Amino acid sequence: MNITYTALLFLLLAITFSASGQEPISAITMPENLDQGKVELGKKLFFDPRLSKSGWISCNSCHNLMLSGTDNLVSSIGHQWAQGPINSPTVFNAVYSIAQFWDGRAKDLVDQAGGPIANPGEMASSHELAVSVLQTIPGYISEFNEVFDDDEITIDMVTDSIAEFERTLVTPNSRFDQWLQGDTNALTELELDGYRLFKLTGCAGCHNGPAVGGQAYQKMGSFNRFETENTAIGRQGVTGLRTDRMRFKVPTLRNIELTYPYFHDGSVRTLEEAVDTMAWVQLNRTFSRTGNEKVVAFLRSLSGDLPRIVLPILPPSGPDTPDPQPFE
Ligand code: HEC
Ligand code: HEC
Repeated sequence: MNITYTALLFLLLAITFSASGQEPISAITMPENLDQGKVELGKKLFFDPRLSKSGWISCNSCHNLMLSGTDNLVSSIGHQWAQGPINSPTVFNAVYSIAQFWDGRAKDLVDQAGGPIANPGEMASSHELAVSVLQTIPGYISEFNEVFDDDEITIDMVTDSIAEFERTLVTPNSRFDQWLQGDTNALTELELDGYRLFKLTGCAGCHNGPAVGGQAYQKMGSFNRFETENTAIGRQGVTGLRTDRMRFKVPTLRNIELTYPYFHDGSVRTLEEAVDTMAWVQLNRTFSRTGNEKVVAFLRSLSGDLPRIVLPILPPSGPDTPDPQPFE
């Protein structure tokens, strides 16, 4: 009852969108008013494996900016080849989300960035250790000093800088955004049909806003059960509420053709299958072959320009920098 009610609400929302003539998706815009010093420092930290205990794993290991801001693995590989519990989401456009992680346990990018450093299954360091390592690298001491006007490096400066860099990781100028901004030729008929279907079926009730997601927590399996062997319970882990079981942050669909495999358990390899799964478990719908083809074509039009990132040159370790411990 409850479930049907929620689903109805989305349908209504979707219909309202189409009736009002207002699009449920808005274009990605470039960030403004960023602190360039922090951005550059944050970029270095994002790529620096010395934030991990092994001296080998960086943020980029699991959020590969040359790929899609993710690792394209079912679940990530952490310290000592630890198998991660959940699929790694992309960091591209993460800035648009209401909160970070599948269950939203970090309120924003700053709050999030401290997590993996100290997570034993990811970078396996601690905030104290990571900071003390940075403190032995002369190039960092001077750069932190320049940016924060302070000799003492703190974890807050580290997460603040990484988050500022992540704010630059947006992907504007997709063909869909060009269409939104008035270029009527930017999309093919097939893609436009797919977008109409996306709205009409109710997908846009959950996947909306600039990131085409990231705006709400929703149950995975609103209508029909989603079969998975993954043990993640979703939002319930944060709120303790039974009603939040299997509720996850609605993921972004920007660049979705690049961020396979899909879903929190990484169980689905193709976009075609992901679309059919969603239609069934969330909306109790079955797309025809052409229906599926249309929606997939629309989703592919959401791929934007990935930022052109100049690789940072990381400052060399100093005499007191601890040796990496890849096997401990
Ligand atoms: C070992 C792999 C691994 C490393 C290293 C790693 N991450 Fe992640 N990251 C993940 C996984 C897996 C998740 C999802 C975890 C969850 O939701 O419970 C995640 C989630 C995130 C998210 C949230 C995205 C969203 O849509 O909710 C951001 C942002 C992020 N990581 C940034 C970073 C930064 C910054 C670093 C470096 C300090 C980092 N990650 C290091 C695997 C990794
Ligand atoms: C009731 C809300 C809701 C509706 C309606 C909905 N989705 Fe989703 N969608 C979600 C949630 C929540 C997830 C993440 C679920 C998970 O991984 O466990 C998701 C995941 C996805 C993914 C995989 C994203 C990734 O990075 O792993 C795709 C693709 C997708 N949805 C497309 C669609 C399409 C197409 C429709 C319409 C047929 C649709 N969704 C309808 C909430 C919804």
